Amino acid sequence: MSPSPDPEIARETARRRTFAIISHPDAGKTTLTEKLLLYSGMIRTAGMVKNRKGKLATSDWMGMEQERGISITSSAMQFPYKGNVINVLDTPGHQDFSEDTYRTLTAADSAIMVLDAGKGVETQTRKLFEVCRLRRIPVLTFINKLDLPGRDPLDLLAEVEQVLGIHASPLNWPVGAGREFAGVIDRRTSEVLLFKKTAAAGAQKAEIERLHIDDPRLTERIGAALLEKAHHDLELLEVAGNPFSREAFLRGEVTPAFFGSALTNFGIEPFYDAFVDLAPAPGARPVDLEGGGEKLLDPVTEPFSAFVFKIQANMDKRHRDCLAFMRICSGRFGRDLVVQHHRLGKQIRLARPHTMVAQERATLDEAYPGDVVGLISRDTFRIGDTISLDGGFEHKPLPQFQPEVFARVSPRELTKRKSFDKGMDQLIAEGTVQRLWPENGALNDPLVAAVGKLQFEVLQYRLSDEYKVETTISELPFECSAWLEGDPETFNAPTTALMTKDARGRNVVLFTSIWDKQSAARKNPAHKLLDYA
Ligand code: G4P
Repeated sequence: MSPSPDPEIARETARRRTFAIISHPDAGKTTLTEKLLLYSGMIRTAGMVKNRKGKLATSDWMGMEQERGISITSSAMQFPYKGNVINVLDTPGHQDFSEDTYRTLTAADSAIMVLDAGKGVETQTRKLFEVCRLRRIPVLTFINKLDLPGRDPLDLLAEVEQVLGIHASPLNWPVGAGREFAGVIDRRTSEVLLFKKTAAAGAQKAEIERLHIDDPRLTERIGAALLEKAHHDLELLEVAGNPFSREAFLRGEVTPAFFGSALTNFGIEPFYDAFVDLAPAPGARPVDLEGGGEKLLDPVTEPFSAFVFKIQANMDKRHRDCLAFMRICSGRFGRDLVVQHHRLGKQIRLARPHTMVAQERATLDEAYPGDVVGLISRDTFRIGDTISLDGGFEHKPLPQFQPEVFARVSPRELTKRKSFDKGMDQLIAEGTVQRLWPENGALNDPLVAAVGKLQFEVLQYRLSDEYKVETTISELPFECSAWLEGDPETFNAPTTALMTKDARGRNVVLFTSIWDKQSAARKNPAHKLLDYA
């Protein structure tokens, strides 16, 4: 007998949009997030995140949380937007870029890719996009900073196609650019959305005038030259542009593209309206069944289940507790729920769900598929853990991502070896860094590897703070790596490469340059070099 859907769970699931913003630092992720808060009515004036340089969302959000009492944490932020419930997952960039940034994407149902119109597709965007592709996460594209002189829109879309290998289909089109940026044309309705330039410039919602593309008043509003160009561009797109279908977008074959300026709010509301319209609600996820095989886990009809995608150490020195963030995949979450912890094979009570509702730090009572719940944990949770009401399956293991920084770490005092080993085991289990064993007999000690350098600092800090072990870290001259598929004996490696094994016994090759890696891939056609495992 198939379980009958609970109408409340069905309704709540359908109105959730759980997403992450992927971008290169400075493309405008923070500004765009803040404008979502402005348009959702959570804040009345934008511009609070000004004056912060470098250090990003985490602290901004925490600051905003205190000031406005809105529902924010450093890892996920929830608020209503026009009848929908938005969950924005934080993807730390800048110096905080780490494996966590990648892992967060496994908890998202869609992603917004923000590009700087002056710069196009940059490195971190490309790496994060690859993860979206791997996870088949649909991606919407927002091309930002149209108020500044930038590159030609057609050029930018061509770059998205060439570099990322996805069709880009512009759903709106800019009228003018830089100082002349006057509005966007909604290609689905043929309306021109003209933005009024006001003194508030971005702090308040933008005023929009909507005119049909054939409305005679347009000539007077934007001038004959811009209008002629708009007509010309639209005709060109009609003939040469990629068609858009929501199905193709959901399959990850096409990204709908939008133009705007997060700073001045031009194009923000139409973009977010299209986002809630197009982006998927939490859907069924494939899970591995205990006895072998897999099934699709329906978010509405299946009882409660979730997986842990991030563990955050407590920076409060008096407590060793961590905060385990889990994404709900099915059913309703309620306080004091007793669930199966699959890895530990025992039942646990979810007694202290750390609230995402920051207003009064109240305890969270209910949550639904797509929501993120933080649970205080000492040793209970690890990244990738599944919990559920009934058990019988595992959420898919989270992929590991190609480390790009490598080091040798050792305790400064030999007497601290035991604490050092204990701390390393725990921090590796939490996913702070990865551990690799060199094949070369002369290098018996394991190496540590991470996606970003900050992870080494976190490692050292936590070993010192929590395990009272001071350590020495010496970085190694490798720049990238790959999991090797195929016989390592017949792999023709560059002389500077190092063969290692990971915790699961898989072969990992470390390279001193991207060039070496590419050349090794060419020289070893019978082997595969994988960026994810
Ligand atoms: P990030 O989170 O992706 O790193 O980017 P963030 O929003 O912090 O934006 C990076 C810089 O780009 C900020 O300027 C921000 O004001 C600016 N910016 C964002 N969107 C737009 C836009 O649409 N047009 C223009 N012209 N600028 C934009 P900053 O000088 O680093 O900081 P601030 O002091 O201006 O806040």
